[in-house]
Amino acid sequence: MEIQLWREILSPYELAVDELVLKFRHIIDEYRKAGRYSPIEQVDGRVKTISSILDKMQRKKINVNEIEDELEDIAGVRLICQFVEDIDYVLEIIEKRSDMEIKRRKDYISHSKDSGYRSYHLIIYYEVNTIYGRKRLKAEIQIRTLAMNFWATVEHSLQYKYKGNIPDHVTTKLLRASDAIDVLDQEMSSVRDEIMDAQNSFQKKANTVSEILHTMQNLYKVANKHEVIKIQDEFYKIYETGDMESLEHFNKQLDIIAEGYRAQSIS
Ligand code: GTP
Ligand code: MG
Repeated sequence: MEIQLWREILSPYELAVDELVLKFRHIIDEYRKAGRYSPIEQVDGRVKTISSILDKMQRKKINVNEIEDELEDIAGVRLICQFVEDIDYVLEIIEKRSDMEIKRRKDYISHSKDSGYRSYHLIIYYEVNTIYGRKRLKAEIQIRTLAMNFWATVEHSLQYKYKGNIPDHVTTKLLRASDAIDVLDQEMSSVRDEIMDAQNSFQKKANTVSEILHTMQNLYKVANKHEVIKIQDEFYKIYETGDMESLEHFNKQLDIIAEGYRAQSIS
């Protein structure tokens, strides 16, 4: 096939990868800007090279005119998570989207491949708009943890080095390393809960403080200045102790005071 024809075939896949990477990176941004933990840590994408398309066509006896039907990973996106639990959240995010339709799933996490490979794969339908019109194409999304990614990267390099025939003693080591990665991911899961707790209480505190400041601002307009200053000093004192319960109690009391002023102003 002429090089120019390859370019035409691959161009919409390049657009798809660019868009998908942008969209997933934006999800990370949204979480971080909201001060929340992002279930996605890192996003990568690539369009399959012509040479690896040719390799796969040869290996799987695929005709040139069948490429787009048979090769589901011409467009590929990889989503890396910190923790195994994050993968379920990422799946939920994708399931809810209107611009990605899941065609197929492969769960190599519950059942790792014989090589020891772990990852969750999705084949999705995704639509792009080009100067020739709309095109619905397929893309592969690989979702895995940082640890799984580390293993896959090393194993991939070894596959390359040994041209697919990794010697037995290396295979044995890789399988053992894969088990170790699984244990590591489980160990890290227990830390995840602590991270979540810390992040949630951080968020809760920020919200309570913001409510208190909002109420105090309103009180300035209606209440006696002395009283507001007294309330403000009280707030600083409680804030310094760092005790969440007292802060929440204070927030409620403040609400009652503000409510009192509101009632007065109505009557
Ligand atoms: P290909 O493996 O690409 O021919 O497609 P498939 O139809 O067998 O799909 P599969 O889900 O098995 O693999 C898709 C992709 O996952 C591969 O292209 C790799 O990127 C990755 N993958 C699958 N198995 C392994 C593995 O044993 N080691 C590594 N490092 N990556 C793997
Ligand atoms: Mg395969």
